[in-house]
Amino acid sequence: MRRGAIVRVVTIALLAAAVATAVAIFIDWLPAADSKEADRIDFVFWVVVAICIAVFAVVAAVTVYSVVKFRARPDDDSDGAPIHGNTTLEIVWTAVPAVLVTAVAVVSAVALAQNGHVPKKHMRVNVLAQQFAWSFSYPKYQGLTVSQLRMPIGEAVQLKMHSKDVIHSFWVPEFGQKQDLVPGIETKLVITPKRLGTYPIACTELCGEGHALMRSEAVVMKPAAFTAWVKAQEKAAARAAQGSAGGGAGLAAFNSNGCSACHTYKPAGSTATTGPDLDNLAADARRAGQPLVPFVRVSIVDPNAYIEKGYQPNIMPDTFKSLPKQQLDALVQFLTAGKK
Ligand code: CUA
Repeated sequence: MRRGAIVRVVTIALLAAAVATAVAIFIDWLPAADSKEADRIDFVFWVVVAICIAVFAVVAAVTVYSVVKFRARPDDDSDGAPIHGNTTLEIVWTAVPAVLVTAVAVVSAVALAQNGHVPKKHMRVNVLAQQFAWSFSYPKYQGLTVSQLRMPIGEAVQLKMHSKDVIHSFWVPEFGQKQDLVPGIETKLVITPKRLGTYPIACTELCGEGHALMRSEAVVMKPAAFTAWVKAQEKAAARAAQGSAGGGAGLAAFNSNGCSACHTYKPAGSTATTGPDLDNLAADARRAGQPLVPFVRVSIVDPNAYIEKGYQPNIMPDTFKSLPKQQLDALVQFLTAGKK
């Protein structure tokens, strides 16, 4: 190859690389990386992008150069020179990709191993997924169970995840990782949040009719605010336990079964709006022409029996018919106490 040809190929390669780099850098492709784990995932991403840009530049340069240089002239009908095989070239185009793929594998393996590492100082949170709600419980705080994931900033949190029914998948885009929840096995995920804020949690595995509604939030708080929140939750639970007979058990059942993920109910402090507001149960029962207590009980075990105006059937899970009788009683008591 002549020097002029090399200069031309290299120039085209640099141009192609510049364009591809601009597209990679100046368009905001990724969500902000707000956990240490997301930083590592992003690092792997950019390593792969850099390799892709280099390969693209070489291929684009050789292609463009060849198309221009070796194009058919109008007066030339002859065949090309008969060439077969070029051992050097074949070795190069096998060895280079092999090295690149190995590099990607090594970088990925290191990042995944680091992301899976649980530091000594960490907080455990048990995650339970079911059609179509998330619940989070904190063994460190007497099993405090809530429908929003709250975490203090800077501390590693290990999620130990279970599914009650089908495969779900936990995903917070800003934390960079997805993890399936599979019935019968425990899956784990470590999150070390590094920015304060409220992030969406999405179920990212099609799990039934309410899949799109299976959402919650992850709230990253200052450590002091987190401690205050835990105290407030514990106080609320204690107050509920004193206030109404079975209130503590009812509130616990309400939270641990994910009711708070979909329903607003003042005594539980929940504000979700996927399902009907449970503060209006008495009026709903009247409209259905049913006495309150049986109305509530039937609505839990057979959600399609009465459908409130403005809501769809088949959204609430029908798995609550298998609730232990004690839990169901406590729940009904909790939802009907003080109402007529
Ligand atoms: Cu749970 Cu989709």
